[in-house]
Amino acid sequence: MAVKNVFVAGHRGMVGRALCRALKKHSDVSLITANKADLDLTNQAKVIEFFNNNHIDEVYLAAAKVGGIHANNTYPGEFIYQNLMVQTNVIHSAHIGNVKKLLFLGSSCIYPKFADQPISEDALLTGALEPTNESYAIAKIAGIKLCESYRRQYGKDFRSVMPTNLYGPYDNFNPDNGHVIPALMHKFHKAIKSNKCHVEIWGSGNVRREFLHVDDLASACLHLMEQDDSVFWRGVNEHCSHVNVGSGVDCSIKELAETLKSITKFEGALHFNGSKPEGTPVKKLNISNILERGWAPSISLRSGLETVWRWYKSHSH
Ligand SMILES: NC(=O)c1ccc[n+]([C@@H]2O[C@H](COP(=O)([O-])OP(=O)(O)OC[C@H]3O[C@@H](n4cnc5c(N)ncnc54)[C@H](OP(=O)(O)O)[C@@H]3O)[C@@H](O)[C@H]2O)c1
Repeated sequence: MAVKNVFVAGHRGMVGRALCRALKKHSDVSLITANKADLDLTNQAKVIEFFNNNHIDEVYLAAAKVGGIHANNTYPGEFIYQNLMVQTNVIHSAHIGNVKKLLFLGSSCIYPKFADQPISEDALLTGALEPTNESYAIAKIAGIKLCESYRRQYGKDFRSVMPTNLYGPYDNFNPDNGHVIPALMHKFHKAIKSNKCHVEIWGSGNVRREFLHVDDLASACLHLMEQDDSVFWRGVNEHCSHVNVGSGVDCSIKELAETLKSITKFEGALHFNGSKPEGTPVKKLNISNILERGWAPSISLRSGLETVWRWYKSHSH
C-alpha cells in the first residue's frame, strides 16, 4: 500500500487534534506536524523551506487565529493579518511544492449576516458581513478564493470546508475569548465549585444555533478529501470550491443551557441577560451537498456534550 505524507497545519488546535486522531487510524497515512515554535506559519521563507524539506502529498490547513465575538471585535488587526499570512504561506507553498490535495478550513461565520436560512454554499459574498468579525471573515474568504484561483489558473486540487459552530476536547474554555459551549461549561463549573445559586447567560436564550462535535467534522474532512473533486467544482465558471459541514440540527441557547445544566448537575437557576448581545435569531447550514455525498454526523448534541464535559472536568483545575 502506498503511504502518503499528510501535513496537518495547526495540529495543537481543537480541529487539528481531531484531524490527527482521525488520520492516525489510517495505515496509509504518515502524519507530518510542526510546532509553532519551530515553524511560525506567518513566516513565508520558513514555510517554503518546510515544504521543500518534506515531501508532502496532502495538507489539512487548520491553523488560524480563532476566537469568539469579544476577541474578534477587540483584535481585528491581529485576526486579519495572521489569518491572511498563515493561509497565504501554506497554500502558496503547497502550490510550489506540488502538493496533490489541500483542504482549507473556512467557517460558517463568514457567510453574510442576513443570508437566507439554512445557509447554502452559494450565499458566500452575497451580502454584508457581521461587523464584529469582518476582519476574520475577509481573511477567510480570501483563503477560499486563493484555493479557487489556484485551481482555475494552475489546476490545483485545493478544496475548502465551511464548518458550523464546533465544540470538543481542547476547545478554548476562556469565558472572555471562547465560543458559547466552552464558555458555558466554564461558567457551570465555576458556579458549582463556588456554590453559586445562578449562572448568567448572555442574551434572551431564544436565538437558535447549530453545533457539531469536532470528531464529526474530522470525519467529514477525511470523507471530502476522498471524494472526486467534482463535489467542489460546480456552478457557473466553477466558482464554488467549498462544502458546508454541519449537524443539520439547531437548538436555542436556552435549550443548550438547560441540557448543560442537566449534564453538569448544576442545581441553581439560569438567568438570561437580555441586555447583552446575542447575534442573528437563527443560524444553520444547508448540508444537503455533503449528505448527498454519503457523509452524515454520528454524534448527537447530548452525547457530545457529555463527553466534552467529562473531558473538561478532568483537564480543569
Ligand atoms: N472552533 C470552531 O467553532 C470553528 C468553527 C468553524 C470553523 N473553524 C475553523 O477551524 C480552524 C481551526 O480552528 P480551531 O477551533 O481548531 O482553532 P484553535 O484551537 O485556536 O487552533 C488553531 C491552531 O492554529 C495554530 N496557529 C495559529 N497561528 C499560527 C502560526 N502563525 N503558526 C503556526 N500555528 C499557528 C494555533 O497554535 P497556537 O495555539 O500555538 O497559537 C492553534 O494550534 C480555523 O480555520 C477555524 O476558522 C473553527
